[in-house]
Formats: sequence, structure tokens, C-alpha cells
Amino acid sequence: MNPIKYAYLKAESWFNVAFGSELNPLYNMGRLAFFFFWVVLISGLYLFIFFDTSLSGAYASVEAITYEQKYFGGVMRSLHRYASDAAVITIVLHMFREYALGRYNGVRWFSWISGVPTLWIVITLGITGYWLVWDELGLYVAMLSSKLIDALPLIPGSMERNFVGTQVSDRFFTLMAFLHFMGQPLFLVFALWIHIKRLSFVKVYAPKGLAIGSLVAMLALSLAAPAVSHKAADASQVTAVLNIDWFYLNVYPLMDYFTAGQTWVITLSLTFFLMIMPWLPPKKRGPAAEVHLDHCNGCEQCAEDCPFDAITVQARTDGAKFENEVKVNPDLCASCGICVGSCPSSNPFRQKKELLVTGIDMPNRPINDIRDQVDDAIAKLKGDNKIIVMGCENALDFTSLEAPNLHVVSLFCIGMMPATLVEYALAHGADGVFITGCRTGDCFFRYGNVWMDERFDGRRQPILRKRADRSRIKVFRAAETDGKQLHKELGEFENHINSLKTKDTADQQEPANA
Ligand code: HEM
Repeated sequence: MNPIKYAYLKAESWFNVAFGSELNPLYNMGRLAFFFFWVVLISGLYLFIFFDTSLSGAYASVEAITYEQKYFGGVMRSLHRYASDAAVITIVLHMFREYALGRYNGVRWFSWISGVPTLWIVITLGITGYWLVWDELGLYVAMLSSKLIDALPLIPGSMERNFVGTQVSDRFFTLMAFLHFMGQPLFLVFALWIHIKRLSFVKVYAPKGLAIGSLVAMLALSLAAPAVSHKAADASQVTAVLNIDWFYLNVYPLMDYFTAGQTWVITLSLTFFLMIMPWLPPKKRGPAAEVHLDHCNGCEQCAEDCPFDAITVQARTDGAKFENEVKVNPDLCASCGICVGSCPSSNPFRQKKELLVTGIDMPNRPINDIRDQVDDAIAKLKGDNKIIVMGCENALDFTSLEAPNLHVVSLFCIGMMPATLVEYALAHGADGVFITGCRTGDCFFRYGNVWMDERFDGRRQPILRKRADRSRIKVFRAAETDGKQLHKELGEFENHINSLKTKDTADQQEPANA
């Protein structure tokens, strides 16, 4: 396994032990970033009330907020700074996670490349924020930013000459304030809207426990190490020591070694590299799901369940008595097969002897082949414990489990499995069904394992009927690093099935002996 992925999955399992899967911060990075934006917004609104947007008054107003209302304004200022830093940390970790777990290419290219400018907007927001304090750091940021802008061939004139030193324009400073308080946040909201536009069921609110914990941690940090300014900006003085915020201002120290032009080349090359990552190398996408109208009653469950918003509902086109039908957008389809598990027509008890055709199917692994596999396996399996393992091939590798008494059925996602297939396997001779899917709180295709749980406990159609013997079904959730645990869990399940068989035999003998 790729070592980056291995390390990341290991870290996630440690965090699972420490926080539990629901509050695992590594599963909630995007949502946490949203939470930090809320803290930044609320604290920013407070600061805005007391901030003087004129060049001459800015520094003094920030000092007044920090020292004259230490336990409110000062804390708000610190919260504003720490939540901004935390936002960058969570965004970078979120980005790293998508990369490490291979969730950045294929159909996800759009979320990935729309994320890159979003990150840059966040960073420029931080830059204008530091500028506004108009202390030595603000002056440093202003001077170097002007140098960077001057290096752009498209913008005529010299910003550096116009905006720093004795000729600093008050109007320009106010423009910066406007940009920071209004312009950039609006851009950010728009960019985030685009970023999550192609996904469904996006949760933008962090779990309560995680939000409260993060807020308490930031409050504690704000009291222990309040955010303060440098000395007031003075273009005639050279500042010896500057405390750089490396989350936002990391590009400026580069300019100690490179010219502004070279700094642009480095930054733009990095951006370009990030943008083309989904195609390095291009991911081979499986064929999109196909609708078979003859077997679709327009119930819309697949459209409701698709985590990538790839299925839409439209008026019936084939003259059938149903009102609607569904349509797949191949550009958005992740080929996860979750729609197959959603379709009531995927019920393997239907059309028992003939080809099983469902309303929506995966051309490269049709439900009929899956049912055939289960039938063949049950006919061929040997021994007392006939077990069918149904597993998601994006979680841990379970193919090595094949044994005379055990057959594995590989699915693109565990959400692809119709709940009735489990019942079918049990009804046709399997002694037990062992199901493996991604870890709780995580799913390669976002919602496959959640939908499976909901189908099993009757909250989502099509459900696993009550008659399916739950004591013969085991669900084990795991990632690629949990191989050892898989063998242990499977061994326990086999023993459990054995004990059920022994009990059944004893129950059958008892009336005969009586
Ligand atoms: C600027 C702040 C960002 C926020 C607040 C944010 C938030 C989110 C959220 C809430 C989701 C949906 C997760 C889900 O429900 O499964 C998401 C998806 C995603 N984000 Fe971001 N994101 C940000 C930046 C980025 C960046 C910089 C990248 C990478 C360059 C990125 C890459 C992705 C990808 C690839 C997905 C799709 C995940 C999937 O389909 O499973 N995001 N983001």
C-alpha cells in the first residue's frame, strides 16, 4: 500500500480510539473549516465595529480593542486570528486527506480543482487582514505585496511607490478594508458554493462536540497567548524582528531569496501543479450507471441516494404508466453502484430463473452477475460453515479470504449491495453473511455504508426485511490497514455460526429424544 495512505489511515485509527468515529477530527476537516469560518466571521464583525478604516486611525483602534477591552475585544481579536489559522490547518489537512485516500481524481476532479482557488482566497483574506493592522508586519506585507503586484506585467504603474512610505494613500487603505470585510468573504462564499455544488448531502456543520471542543481550545489559547500587534508602521524604520504568521504569510520570506517575478513563478507553478494533480496520472473511470426503463417505476430512490448528484428525475419518456423516470449524468457518475442497492428492482428474489434486470445497473458488474456468483458459490462451497463475504473493494482487501467454505463477492461500494441480497444468500443455503465496508464515519463513496446501515435498520428503502436472520449477519467496518482485525472478526463469526448450527442440531434432536 502507498506509504502516505498507510500512515494516514493509521493516524485515523488512533484518532478513532481517542475521539470515537463521530468526533474524529480527521473525518471532519471540511466541516471544521466551515466552523472556523463562522468563528472568523462573528469575531470579525465585532472587530469591524471598533476598527477605524482610516490609515491614521487603524493601528490605534486595534490597540484599543486589544488593551482597553482586553477580556472581550482582545479575546475576539485573538479568536479571529486563531480561528483563521485553524481554518488553514484544517483546509490543508482536508486537502491532504483527499489526496492520501485517492479521493481527488476521477469524478472528483471538480471538487479538487475548485478547492485550489478557494484556498488561495482564504490566504489572501489573511494577507489583507494583516495589512489592516498597519503595524510593522502590516507595512512589511504591504510593501512586499506591492512589489509582487508591480511584477505583474498586466498592471501599469508602481504600487510600491504609490502606497507605502510617505505617500500612502488613505483611500487605498480603506479599499483594503473593504476588500477584507466584504469583497474577499463574498468571493469565498461563492467559491465554497462552487466547491460543494456537485456533491449531495454535504454537511457543513461540524459535530457539536468537535465545535465546542475547538472553541474552548481557541478561547484557552486566546487567554494564554493573546494576539498582539508589532509597533506602529513606520516606513522610515527598518524592523529587525517580525513574527510571521506562517499559515498566511509564507510567501513573503521567499522574497528574501527570490525576486518578485521568481516568487510568482514558484507560486503559480505550485498552483498549476495542484490544479493538474487529478490527471497525474488520469484515473480510468468505470462506465456510468445505466437506466433500464422497463424495470424502473420512477420511485426516485436512486436519485435520492446518489452522493454525487448524478441522477435526476424527469417526466416519463417511454409511455409507461409511471409519472417519472430517472436519468444518469455520466459526467457526474462515480460508478459506485450505490444506485443499484437503492433500486427496488435489484431484489434478487425477482425473476428467479431468468436474467435479473434492474432499473439502474452497473454495466461492468451487473446485479445479475452478482446474484449468479452468490448462487454458484452456495452450490460449490464445502464444509459446515458456508459463508458469503460481501465487501467493498475500496476498503480493505478481503480477496485473500477465499476458502473452501467461503466465497467473496466484491462490490464497488457496500452501498451497492441490495439488502435483499443478504436475505437471498441466507435463504439459498449460506450459513452466514459477513459484510465488510469502509470504517464508520468514512466511506470511499461518501454515503454507501450509511445507506447500508439505514436499509438494515429499516430507515431507508429498500430495507432488509425482518425475516432475514440477523444472528447470521455480521458487519465489519475496516480500512486497508485493518487486515489483522479482519481475520480475527471473521474467525469469531465462523465460530458463532458453528455454535448456531450446533444449537440448531441439538434443538432438532430434542423433540425426537423426548
Ligand atoms: C477552503 C476551504 C474548504 C472547505 C471549507 C472545504 C469543504 C469541503 C466539504 C464540506 C466537502 C464535502 C465533504 C463531504 O461531505 O464528503 C468537500 C469536499 C471536497 N473537497 Fe473541500 N473544502 C475546502 C478546500 C478544499 C481544497 C483546498 C481542496 C483541494 C485542493 C479540497 C478538495 C476537496 C475534494 C476533492 C472534495 C470531494 C470529497 C469527496 O468527494 O469525497 N477542498 N470540501
